[in-house]
Amino acid sequence: MSTSGSVLLVAGSPSAPSRSSALLEAVGTRLALRGARIERLSVRELPAQALLSADASHPQLQRAADQLAQARAVVIATPVYKAAYTGVLKAFLDLLPQSALKGKTVLPLASGGSPHHMLALDYALRPVLQSLAARHVLAGVYATDSQVTLTPEGAYQLHSDLAQRLDDSVETLAFEGLHLKPLQGFEPVHFSQVRCSA
Ligand SMILES: Cc1cc2nc3c(=O)[nH]c(=O)nc-3n(C[C@H](O)[C@H](O)[C@H](O)COP(=O)(O)O)c2cc1C
Repeated sequence: MSTSGSVLLVAGSPSAPSRSSALLEAVGTRLALRGARIERLSVRELPAQALLSADASHPQLQRAADQLAQARAVVIATPVYKAAYTGVLKAFLDLLPQSALKGKTVLPLASGGSPHHMLALDYALRPVLQSLAARHVLAGVYATDSQVTLTPEGAYQLHSDLAQRLDDSVETLAFEGLHLKPLQGFEPVHFSQVRCSA
């Protein structure tokens, strides 16, 4: 199996267990099956005092920034909080260097209580990821809580439609971000090669 650079999974929820983290793990599992090396970062485990006082020199925050710098692609998951992403995720992103995502492909994921805030990925999180110089922010995947249900064993189960959307996004990330061959069918056309004619 080829290892084509690591993928960093960033969990932006302050809660555990967490629906948005379940989305993240589902993506991680799929990418690992495609041969990607997976690294993890959970913002809820970062030192709260250092985050709140913007102490970017804290060793744990520096390690987190290094993890990000070394990743080839990044998957960021957040719950929707008050029509945007979480404060703890923003506190972490605020401490990163301005070009922290330079050259990287980023896949954003979010879960929310209602479908009404699905655009939070585009109007709230995407501009921040762009401002950190991401090479390409892929179309995000949004799930409502009813699509990520708890089993009696305490595990999160993904609705089949959601699982299919994650499959598709992982294929796009594997091709565009990691340059892996598609699993089946035609090779997707790379974004930079799309031509339009009127
Ligand atoms: C403080 C707070 C604010 C929330 N705000 C919203 C919101 O504005 N829109 C929404 O659809 N869901 C909102 N929710 C629901 C969560 O986004 C939803 O339950 C999410 O799946 C939780 O993800 P997690 O388990 O990863 O933390 C909110 C939840 C909390 C705790």
